Amino acid sequence: MNVVLIGFMGTGKSAIGRALAQRLGWAHMDTDTEIERRFGKKIRLIFAQDGEAEFRQAETKVLQEISVSDQLILSTGGGTPLRQENAALLAQIGTIVLLTTPPERIAARVGKRLAERPLLAGWEHDPLTRVRQLLQERTPRYEALADYRLETATFASPQAAASHLISHLRLNPTE
Ligand code: S3P
Repeated sequence: MNVVLIGFMGTGKSAIGRALAQRLGWAHMDTDTEIERRFGKKIRLIFAQDGEAEFRQAETKVLQEISVSDQLILSTGGGTPLRQENAALLAQIGTIVLLTTPPERIAARVGKRLAERPLLAGWEHDPLTRVRQLLQERTPRYEALADYRLETATFASPQAAASHLISHLRLNPTE
């Protein structure tokens, strides 16, 4: 059994994924971290030096290498489900949980570290407009893939969101 967390930047995919894996004693993989490890540099530099296409190719490769029979929590990047090939791979890997958060909160969160988000580059003056634009484009794809949706802004901590998912998805460490 695996659980895949999808959703826009700043919705808590990495933090909730880590908390969930810790509670369950399962492995945790974050596609962004894995790609940074493989390239030996930060995503911002991969986009700048290798290009977005290389990054997207690496995302697909990481997904192709995941074993469906693991006990794994997979935190994806905000753009991972957009490629049709990736969407099919994610659906095979496990139960897909879509994390959502209001755009104002996303903009406030990611706005603090905009330099790390290449897709928001050039929008420093108005990250909220860009966030809304991308959300509008991406939400139909996210929604189509989701087995379950969780609004994360209502939880006090990643641990609280993880506890909710454990009971709702009836997960337990021995599964
Ligand atoms: C991206 C989101 C980022 C990272 C890359 C592209 C996107 O991941 O994969 O900057 O296309 O939305 P997070 O959602 O973890 O920030």
